[in-house]
Amino acid sequence: MKLDRPKIIVTGGAGFIGSHTVVALVENGFEPIIIDDFSNASHSVLDGLYKIIGRQIKCYEMNCCRAEQLEDILQKEGDIKGIIHFAAFKSVSESQQYPLKYYENNVLSLGSVLRVMNKLNIKHLVFSSSCTVYGEPDQVPVTESSSIKEAASVYGYTKQIGERMIGDTINASKGLQAVILRYFNPIGAHPSAHIGELPNGVPENLVPYITQTAIGLRKQLTVFGGDYPTPDGTAIRDYIHVMDLAMAHVKALDWLKRNDERQGIFNIGTGKGTSVMELLSSFERINQVKVNYQIGPRRPGDIEQIYAQCDKSNNVMDWEAHFTIEEALRDAWNWEKKFRESN
Ligand code: UFG
Repeated sequence: MKLDRPKIIVTGGAGFIGSHTVVALVENGFEPIIIDDFSNASHSVLDGLYKIIGRQIKCYEMNCCRAEQLEDILQKEGDIKGIIHFAAFKSVSESQQYPLKYYENNVLSLGSVLRVMNKLNIKHLVFSSSCTVYGEPDQVPVTESSSIKEAASVYGYTKQIGERMIGDTINASKGLQAVILRYFNPIGAHPSAHIGELPNGVPENLVPYITQTAIGLRKQLTVFGGDYPTPDGTAIRDYIHVMDLAMAHVKALDWLKRNDERQGIFNIGTGKGTSVMELLSSFERINQVKVNYQIGPRRPGDIEQIYAQCDKSNNVMDWEAHFTIEEALRDAWNWEKKFRESN
């Protein structure tokens, strides 16, 4: 069936960034189709999406590493305008413990996506990369041409490999075009609180750890390192509202459509660095809730500070972040409260 709304495959579309991107796609006239194996996502995400969008979004439960199955689905769907490839494992520490799990899943799934795109002549790819590819930067903010350092984790290395795989495949293909988005630190939730971040087990990332401590699920947050050479001694990151990040995928698809360039690489952040303690104080202030915390040792593998320079995504892709950190922290807290009330 030919649709007015361009069909976009969203691998990993039930995950944190994927699900918010599905909403942004629908709001901007696209028809997303989710492919997810639910290995790190809950089926309840689909209910949340239904509440926001007001109709069911098509979803295939499948692991993207299975190239033949992927090809069958895409062939059956037909008329696919692009693929946004989120499906990947994303835990830095787990990747050090189980490197093969990460190499197999992250590298194979991208390989399978690229193979099927070539075969079915699907031209547009948007790939989830990470600021982790910059390692510990010599200078902040980092631009897209800042040097790519040796990856500090297997996870980070799979993102570097992914970027390289895409470049090599584009060079050898006829019309494949790709946008690589280097995400900084996504936080927050959809303002409706119907979808949000739902980590499995003990959260590794800062904001879900804060919200789970604030709600009483965790006893105490440990701030990893109070002795960094930063103004308050804690590490600095570029925290971006997940809905702003989601919108970057819409802009990336638009850019691919109107552009002849084969590949675009863009930083997706706010351009502003925030320390762990600043973030924590903002959370307490905006939500009027106290978070029990202690300062602990640095976390191995963490870098001191990184934030983005986003001029290129602003000027070339016509994208910029609109939400404030306070809005992101309000949405993250509303999501946590709503989720715990109903579960
Ligand atoms: N932090 C704490 N306590 C916690 C959790 C985190 O103090 O319980 C600190 C970290 O040490 C770091 C900051 O909060 O200084 C942010 O940590 P996150 O784990 O939320 O995010 P990271 O910057 O470590 O990692 C993120 C993504 C990764 C990606 C990486 C690239 O989660 O997927 O950015 O830098 F690889």
